[in-house]
Amino acid sequence: MGALSIFPPRASTTAGEVDALYGFLLVVGIGMTALIFFFVFFFAIKYRRRSPDERPKAIHGSIPLEITWSVIPFLVMLVMFAWGTKLYFQNYTPPRRDTLDIYVTGKQWMWKIQYPDGQREINELHVPTGRPVKVTLASEDVLHSFFLPAFRLKHDVVPGSYQTFWFEATKPGRYHIFCAEYCGTNHSQMIGWVTVMDPVSYETWLSAGAGGSSMAELGQKLFEQYGCVSCHVLDQQGRCPSLRNVFGNPVKLEDGRTVIADEAYIRESILNPNAKIVSGYKRDVMPVFQGQINEEGLLQLIVYIKSLSNPPKPAAAKTAAAAGKRSPQ
Ligand code: CUA
Repeated sequence: MGALSIFPPRASTTAGEVDALYGFLLVVGIGMTALIFFFVFFFAIKYRRRSPDERPKAIHGSIPLEITWSVIPFLVMLVMFAWGTKLYFQNYTPPRRDTLDIYVTGKQWMWKIQYPDGQREINELHVPTGRPVKVTLASEDVLHSFFLPAFRLKHDVVPGSYQTFWFEATKPGRYHIFCAEYCGTNHSQMIGWVTVMDPVSYETWLSAGAGGSSMAELGQKLFEQYGCVSCHVLDQQGRCPSLRNVFGNPVKLEDGRTVIADEAYIRESILNPNAKIVSGYKRDVMPVFQGQINEEGLLQLIVYIKSLSNPPKPAAAKTAAAAGKRSPQ
């Protein structure tokens, strides 16, 4: 009972900022409510009818007064808007480099979690402190919402697309995971735990779970199993584009547009290859894989294709970042 508090524990770098904004909304909301109630009662008493034949004086509007009570609340709302927008973009735009990428798939009624090294868990998420973690969310069936109250993060998990957010955990401990979007009979059971560990314990935990194939290796297996490899020949112009160094780079399409090959692009190109045709290649060459690969498999394929883009080594990444340009590899 001692732990009775309004806010859940704060365990991420931005939790304090979200709470500050929430506190501001709360103070403004309570303040406005109190002000309105005060004036309701104050005027009710001040302007009460004192005798049966009393007639009220006619009142004419006051422009300065009207402007004041319109402009002040407007400015207060603008502060909320600007502050909220800043936090939104901050929390839902993952940093570009050195993130720990974790893939979460929602499925009635569980959270399936995959780590790049190949560890897999259900309803359990393990993260280290002091390192930005990028979470990619996918849904196998219906709309869910991945909610980590201790990190003040919540995002809908939308079927047919990827959503991302990121956080940097600050405090070791065990915190709740909830599904915050009604998704069927056992929605309330779609819960789990995120365990935050210090980096050393995290490494120990990771190596204890290692031994299986990494996500990239699993993706490569799928790549061979589905015959992708026969067309997408690496380092060679085949009937299909080579996938070497595609991920994260611009791709020129036959209709003249240029798109960045991100997760969503790769996903679409697997499921519905005719949606975007790479310039110089033909339509209807690649079979449609819609309904044939599950979301977890798609994520493995994407991680494999990512791995073909030679992400620069951490040291090289820093040098490239310092030089302010993308690695030529
Ligand atoms: Cu999944 Cu509610």
